[in-house]
Amino acid sequence: MTLLASFVVLISAFSVRATAPSGPWDQFNYAPSTRVVLPTAVHSSFGSVTNGKNLVGNKGMATLTGNGSWIALDFGKEVGGLISLNLNSVTNTSAFALSFTESPEFIRPTASDDSALGAPSTTYDGVLSIRAPLPSGFWTQPVKQLRGGFRYLSIVSNSNSPITLSNVSCSISFMPHVTNMRNYSGYFSTIDPVFHDPNFLTKLWYAGAYTVQTNTVPLNTGRASPAGPPGTWSNAATLGVAGPIIVDGAKRDRAVWPGDMGIAVPTQFVSTNDLIPTRNALSTMFSAIASNGALPESGPPLSQTGSDTYHMWTLIGTHNYYTFSGDIAWLQTVWTNYTRAVAFVEAKVTSSGLMNVTGLRDWARLGGGGLNSEGNALLYKVLTNSADLATTMNQPALASAWSANATALKTVFNQAFWVPELGMYRDNQTTTLCPQDANSMAVIFGLTTPAQATSVSAGLQKNWNDLGPVAPELPDTISPFISGLELQAHFMSGNDARAMDLIRREWGYMLYTNLSVQSSLLEGFTANGSLSYRSYRGYSYDPAYTSHAHGWSSGPTSALTYFVLGLQVTSPKGQTWTVAPHLSGLPEAQGGFETPLGTYNVSWATILGAFSLNITAPTGTTGTVTLPVKGKLVTVDGKVAKFNADGTISLKGGKHAILVIP
Ligand SMILES: *[C@@H]1O[C@H](CO)[C@@H](O)[C@H](O)[C@H]1NC(C)=O
Ligand SMILES: *[C@@H]1O[C@H](CO)[C@@H](O)[C@H](O)[C@H]1NC(C)=O
Ligand SMILES: *[C@@H]1O[C@H](CO)[C@@H](O)[C@H](O)[C@H]1NC(C)=O
Ligand SMILES: *[C@@H]1O[C@H](CO)[C@@H](O)[C@H](O)[C@H]1NC(C)=O
Ligand SMILES: *[C@@H]1O[C@H](CO)[C@@H](O)[C@H](O)[C@H]1NC(C)=O
Ligand SMILES: *[C@@H]1O[C@H](CO)[C@@H](O)[C@H](O)[C@H]1NC(C)=O
Ligand SMILES: *[C@@H]1O[C@H](CO)[C@@H](O)[C@H](O)[C@H]1NC(C)=O
Ligand SMILES: *[C@@H]1O[C@H](CO)[C@@H](O)[C@H](O)[C@H]1NC(C)=O
Ligand SMILES: *[C@@H]1O[C@H](CO)[C@@H](O)[C@H](O)[C@H]1NC(C)=O
Ligand SMILES: *[C@@H]1O[C@H](CO)[C@@H](O)[C@H](O)[C@H]1NC(C)=O
Ligand SMILES: *[C@@H]1O[C@H](CO)[C@@H](O)[C@H](O)[C@H]1NC(C)=O
Ligand SMILES: *[C@@H]1O[C@H](CO)[C@@H](O)[C@H](O)[C@H]1NC(C)=O
Repeated sequence: MTLLASFVVLISAFSVRATAPSGPWDQFNYAPSTRVVLPTAVHSSFGSVTNGKNLVGNKGMATLTGNGSWIALDFGKEVGGLISLNLNSVTNTSAFALSFTESPEFIRPTASDDSALGAPSTTYDGVLSIRAPLPSGFWTQPVKQLRGGFRYLSIVSNSNSPITLSNVSCSISFMPHVTNMRNYSGYFSTIDPVFHDPNFLTKLWYAGAYTVQTNTVPLNTGRASPAGPPGTWSNAATLGVAGPIIVDGAKRDRAVWPGDMGIAVPTQFVSTNDLIPTRNALSTMFSAIASNGALPESGPPLSQTGSDTYHMWTLIGTHNYYTFSGDIAWLQTVWTNYTRAVAFVEAKVTSSGLMNVTGLRDWARLGGGGLNSEGNALLYKVLTNSADLATTMNQPALASAWSANATALKTVFNQAFWVPELGMYRDNQTTTLCPQDANSMAVIFGLTTPAQATSVSAGLQKNWNDLGPVAPELPDTISPFISGLELQAHFMSGNDARAMDLIRREWGYMLYTNLSVQSSLLEGFTANGSLSYRSYRGYSYDPAYTSHAHGWSSGPTSALTYFVLGLQVTSPKGQTWTVAPHLSGLPEAQGGFETPLGTYNVSWATILGAFSLNITAPTGTTGTVTLPVKGKLVTVDGKVAKFNADGTISLKGGKHAILVIP
């Protein structure tokens, strides 16, 4: 190694250890500063409860007297884990129960919200009953009955004997491999001049990041499948080949779901760069490949099969993970199975040139089978990604074959699905329904011309009500998962104002509504904002079953970094990068993230009509900058800027200051 090379290695080894700079944005980081958290408020109580406020912040003892007296404690935000408390004074007949809920709508002494199974009663899970005779002193909830996600805990007296207790706490179970959960590698900060809370967008970025942290769990805390009898729940199933592992939701399903990862993993990359749980989830999927090359739809213990779209999301997740981490050693271990899995979907391509989607399970949308546009949009993304990975793996012939098939598919896709009169893509050739998913994917996966992208963005807006897009392919439903894809489509087609409008409607509702936890992000809701998400589509008319911490709803976190801040990596580990801010009506933004090569950060502001853009990237990397404004004079580090033919500016890693003077 030359002296220069070892110097560069030293610098990058140092940079990787750096954490995000601290600043006012830290107050919006929802992650707890300690692994044991205490109630922050009494929500309500019933019957005879003495000194209940003592249980807030562990200030002393409280007494529940009489059968059915209860106190509902508020942890202030979404948490999850095991409850401990001290039983200071009990008789030999004293008994109590714990009931948990994310939404305050389901604070009830007789039942938790639902996690084990959806049921029209909304009370399937029941309570955790602790019967007489109680031990005295320190008590901890049984490990198997871990509650993965809740904000409210009710403690209910279940006998006529008084019960005096203290020291109520929750030992957080998520992010088990991390001592300081607030130690993010990335950050983001801006001011929203339009929304009622100027810190909305910053809070939302952190809410998405925290949501994904609550979905990052120990290997042996999976939700039981099948569910146990009514009145019980269990979270002690093994989730995959290694832990910690990323799952879909904190309360449920607590299983690996590759579609969800399509949004959750970019969030994880820009915020914590904690990618080992993602690698473990992907390894779990590849290890369970079937002999015909089909990947499962979900991880164990669910291990559902028969989903062509989720099969393809695992392949897309592989490209994401490799791009963020540069983990070539891992890519080599899964490569044989990866190619088998690509061949599995390629074999479904019919003489029409389109894939016949026969594995019908999906994100809950209706339809979706046959020569379907969503499935074929995903296949296009799989093929372009795979060509890229084959090049990395030194297989140029395979790379060009996949690339040629991608090009051919793009032509056929546009012939089959584009409806000129509607300016959108239809679901299949026998319908005029233009789905939110395929139209969003067509734009973000690169199937459109710029004119088509403009038209699709406008067309998607026609689905909106006050709270967001009502998906044509799943009536009465607002899906933050698919809306996360739509959000990218608006930014990528240059419709920044529309993107901001979408964020403020949909996530502005989700983050502030008192139906939810005001800290992590809801799985979905109905067109009128109720929690009855997917009621008629597998969730048994049970609004208590909806998850309030679902990583697939965190789309704005990566979108704010990638588009508003404008910072993206364009090759593995961020060896190359782009900075292309979308001002989006905001006065300023700053933020950054980390890769194994080091720290990247960007800050921009419009000051007295001039535009200032500062960029830091690791030494040895290169990037291009696309300025969002024009000016009479543009300087880079004090010198007149040199523009490339395409209007961009090339930069090497290091610290740079760009100024655009009007
Ligand atoms: C924060 O995380 C980095 C790794 O990203 C680690 O090196 C550092 O020790 C952590 N700091 C604290 C205070 O936990
Ligand atoms: C419970 O305690 C009472 C009063 O101390 C005693 O009379 C009774 O025998 C105990 N019952 C049991 C089942 O231990
Ligand atoms: C939410 O707020 C509204 C209006 O303040 C109130 O009527 C309602 O009871 C609250 N709902 C919950 C579940 O706290
Ligand atoms: C407490 O109340 C519940 C519900 O009314 C009842 O089922 C139970 O038997 C009562 N327990 C005692 C010890 O009285
Ligand atoms: C209070 O609870 C904590 C766990 O949250 C435990 O470590 C501590 O020992 C308990 N205090 C007492 C006095 O039992
Ligand atoms: C690849 O698939 C086979 C089953 O065909 C499985 O046994 C093996 O563990 C998989 N390899 C990896 C690295 O997942
Ligand atoms: C797609 O596959 C299904 C199931 O095998 C078959 O019934 C259908 O005819 C196929 N459609 C096309 C267009 O090939
Ligand atoms: C075509 O799309 C419509 C609308 O989504 C759907 O109802 C229908 O089932 C689809 N056809 C097939 C063959 O899946
Ligand atoms: C490309 O598409 C053709 C036609 O569908 C297929 O036979 C071939 O296997 C595909 N190539 C690869 C590398 O998947
Ligand atoms: C909201 O929509 C749900 C599901 O369609 C419905 O059950 C509920 O009655 C509606 N609520 C209101 C207040 O209209
Ligand atoms: C940007 O990154 C550099 C290199 O890690 C760091 O020293 C600096 O504090 C960062 N600045 C801001 C404002 O984030
Ligand atoms: C960029 O850096 C310069 C010099 O440090 C500073 O004056 C300016 O405020 C910075 N601009 C932004 C948007 O951070």
